Amino acid sequence: MTLRSRIIGIGSYLPSHISTNDDMAKIVDTSDEWIVERTGIKVRHFADEQMSSSVMATYAAQEALKAAGISGNDLDLIVLGTVTPDKTFPATAVYVQSALGMKHGCAFDVVAACSGFLYALKTADNMIRLGQVKTALVVGVETLSKITDFKDRNTCVLFGDGAGCVVLQAQEVQGTTADRGIIDTLIYSDGSYAPELCSTGGPSTNHDVGYITMNGREVFRHAAVNMAQVSAEILQKNGVDLSEVDWLVPHQANIRILEATAKRLGIPMEKVISTVDLHANTSAASIPLALAQGIKEGKIKEGQLLLLPGMGAGFTWGASLIRL
Ligand code: COA
Repeated sequence: MTLRSRIIGIGSYLPSHISTNDDMAKIVDTSDEWIVERTGIKVRHFADEQMSSSVMATYAAQEALKAAGISGNDLDLIVLGTVTPDKTFPATAVYVQSALGMKHGCAFDVVAACSGFLYALKTADNMIRLGQVKTALVVGVETLSKITDFKDRNTCVLFGDGAGCVVLQAQEVQGTTADRGIIDTLIYSDGSYAPELCSTGGPSTNHDVGYITMNGREVFRHAAVNMAQVSAEILQKNGVDLSEVDWLVPHQANIRILEATAKRLGIPMEKVISTVDLHANTSAASIPLALAQGIKEGKIKEGQLLLLPGMGAGFTWGASLIRL
């Protein structure tokens, strides 16, 4: 027998304000046709001035805790992935800890951009497997609209705000791929690509949080290759055939990246959860938001095998293999 992290609750939150492509065309020189054709994005949600990342994360967490049938104080750990923290410090996770009434354990952030949820998941899963914690909340949350340059048409149409999370709990299992829980997670980074997608600012650089800047073509080229490669690697490592995977739940950056990843991997688009049309790119929040949406739509069901690849600034990338 071995310890595995089982997902016992999932939650999500999207701010109520929706901006259409036509709304974006009133701000920059763009059009609904261009955005839909190049990205698949139709709408995105934007947080208002008062809505911080920790507030959105707390709403998502409350939904996940309710689904799990536990309270905030039953959590031993919060790991939160974001590039849009409430403040430079302390971690956004401690605000969520306080809002949930969690009085023990620890809460911290990880910064891995669009791979942030996978990095957070791997961290929490490792602590559960080692027996250090029993119950953990893993969050991906972003208020990207607050670091978006709304004068730059190359970036401002691509991003949205939102939060998604899962509650993990330690369970004794045999340790096979038939057992429910997180089977494996692989994470990678290559810092030589940092300039291709980054913020123009930072506390120790220019005392400023900066705006998103990106070499779109270079990111695009690497995204599909890296997500397909790491997906194939995690399947091979765990002796799983692609045909056994029920759903690919990838990071949602661009429908063309999703299609290229699926094609390279050899999985049909019918098995790919796509929410990029509704959410745009919500960075660390995109995978758990897609997971929650897939469940709400009745596509993803308990016991199914899920493959979650992601790729983002750093570059960072990774994949998780989960029996829900
Ligand atoms: N509306 C209209 N035109 C736009 C535009 C917009 N919102 N944004 C860029 N353009 C223009 C460019 O200025 C360029 O014009 P030019 O040829 O006169 O210079 C033209 O469209 C084509 O640009 P190009 O970069 O070739 O487009 P593309 O097909 O590569 O698509 C992206 C651009 C950004 C959609 C695409 O590269 C992409 O999705 N990259 C990955 C982005 C991403 O997901 N990043 C986060 C990953 S985690």
